[in-house]
Amino acid sequence: LNCHVTLDPAFRIGPVDPRLFGSFVEHMGRCVYGGIFEPGHDHADTDGLRQDVLKLTHELGITLVRYPGGNFVSGYRWEDGVGPVGERPRRLDLAWRSVETNAFGLNEFMTWARRAEVEPMMAVNLGTRGIQEACDLLEYANHPGGTYWSDLRIAHGVREPHGIRLWCLGNEMDGPWQVGHKSAEAYGVLAAETAKAMRQVDPEIRLVACGSSNDRMPTFGAWEATVLDHTFDHVDYISLHAYFEKAGDDRASFLASGLAMDRFIDGVVATADHIAAKKRSRRKLLLSFDEWNIWYESRFAGHTNLDWAQAPRLIEDEYTTEDAVVVGSLLMSLLRHADRVGVACLAQLVNIIAPIRAESDRPAWRQTIFHPFALTARHARGDVLRVEPVTPTYDTPRHGDVPVADVVATHDPATGEVTVLAVNRSETEPVLLQAVVRALPGLRVADHQIIGGVADELLLTNHADAPERVGPRHGHGAAIDAGTLAVELPPVSWSILRLV
Ligand code: AHR
Repeated sequence: LNCHVTLDPAFRIGPVDPRLFGSFVEHMGRCVYGGIFEPGHDHADTDGLRQDVLKLTHELGITLVRYPGGNFVSGYRWEDGVGPVGERPRRLDLAWRSVETNAFGLNEFMTWARRAEVEPMMAVNLGTRGIQEACDLLEYANHPGGTYWSDLRIAHGVREPHGIRLWCLGNEMDGPWQVGHKSAEAYGVLAAETAKAMRQVDPEIRLVACGSSNDRMPTFGAWEATVLDHTFDHVDYISLHAYFEKAGDDRASFLASGLAMDRFIDGVVATADHIAAKKRSRRKLLLSFDEWNIWYESRFAGHTNLDWAQAPRLIEDEYTTEDAVVVGSLLMSLLRHADRVGVACLAQLVNIIAPIRAESDRPAWRQTIFHPFALTARHARGDVLRVEPVTPTYDTPRHGDVPVADVVATHDPATGEVTVLAVNRSETEPVLLQAVVRALPGLRVADHQIIGGVADELLLTNHADAPERVGPRHGHGAAIDAGTLAVELPPVSWSILRLV
């Protein structure tokens, strides 16, 4: 099998926005409590922040973290999480039928975000609350002082405003499971009015309207159109969420999940551009893919049988090597849409469907999916190039005919470096990738790392007793000769090549 591409810096899709390498921390299960925050843990500092998790967060290369939910935010009173910890109320969290102690809140999160060197992306509650509470939170967080809420922040020991730029107007408001679920019309009106009021408090903020929870929602498409009819002039992004999983043993379709992600993005772009046309606007609205990952949702018992536990073990999926290959290919889909996707968040960061796992009796460890993310975040720099892979197709039960290989490349004009990401979806055959690089003379292959590619490792995971069992390995034999890069991609593998 073969795959041919041409890499030419004259053909670019758009710059790689660092915000594409975001993640997500929700008050859910053990993401906050027992994840980033665990007072008394051997690796926790005096603020209760786990240093082992912070170290892996740095290594993962994330740039931005969405907080505090997720479904959780739609019933959250943010005021419960600020001020003296001993006076904070214990509440029922209706989203996950858990008990929320509020020992961790906005100011603790901002301390963590500073140490993690990530930009915060804050969500407001538009489920059970509305315009006033969103403005109160923004005033508390961003107003310098001299008003009720900003002075309260200062009284809580935080003199400088947090200066949070990115704000989500609610979460998955199209989902019947959402506390305070709304029709597109009702949500569109509320989101537009909340956006206008929040911009009065702080004109520097950037706002995200809720799109669909996934593209299988019966309202998908119509939801975006109605919401954007109301909010187009008041928001900066429309959101997308998507989780993928392998159905039974249908590996062929699972490996092609990136095509489903491409279709979803293209559908939302089309809808946003339709509203722009209706409004005679030239604006290309950006997309915020603020929840994406693999989630074995079919194994999740549902939201209704939880029993008001504190930080219960929820959806702590253990990822295989094959999952890591798919995560690598989903990152390629996001990069390919760098002209329209401005924010993306791998959901979530720790324990909950996460690249990082943490337990109370040992140091945190990397799941398999950690590796494609960390490698891409570190090396995909500069501009995404427009490459047009020419490769055979194969048939899949879910996606029909699918190209056997996919390729995405970035070129950093500042350093001249090129990064090539490539996936081989064939379950049996290697693919010979040939990339013409004549427009980029003088390059040599500095590194080739591969995830997958060994049949009997595809279902292996990293777990508490074998935390480093699987990870990337170095490939051999990639070379540039007479202006063409040639590299063999093993079956069911994801590769990253650095050309310098
Ligand atoms: O990430 C887990 C959940 O998935 C989030 O709370 C929700 O927004 C989505 O449905």
